[in-house]
Amino acid sequence: MIIPIASDHAGFEAKEIVKRILDKQGITTIDYGTSSSESVDYPDFATYVAQAVNNGEHDMGILICGTGQGMCITANKYPKIRAALVWNEEMARISREHNKANILCLPGRYLNEDELRSIMTTWLQSEFEGGRHQRRINKIDIPKKD
Ligand code: RB5
Repeated sequence: MIIPIASDHAGFEAKEIVKRILDKQGITTIDYGTSSSESVDYPDFATYVAQAVNNGEHDMGILICGTGQGMCITANKYPKIRAALVWNEEMARISREHNKANILCLPGRYLNEDELRSIMTTWLQSEFEGGRHQRRINKIDIPKKD
């Protein structure tokens, strides 16, 4: 499995930790930056990962900023993206089982290494449950005018 990953400056340290965690699990990452703690704008980096997943190049991606919010808002502009803001293991599991999240957004400023590891592991191991959740996903769209 190959996973594209990106962060802004506030998520940079967490991104480096996540890359090490995934590497130890035999998962390859493609790092779209940023490459330091120097201030950048999160949409510039969210776009790389969101596009790669939206166009089918990769099945899943990871985005990290300070709160995870900006990355999540930006990624969800893309029609095939279901980006989930996740801050604990249970949210990680449900975002996959119920929402079939294809981008994991993490609040880098609020998670330590152990939390990042448990969230990552759970998110990657959890499977979409289908059924009523597929029906709901099918309804996610821009409402049409009558
Ligand atoms: C950067 O200071 C911060 O605003 C950004 O990382 C993120 O939290 C935005 O949603």
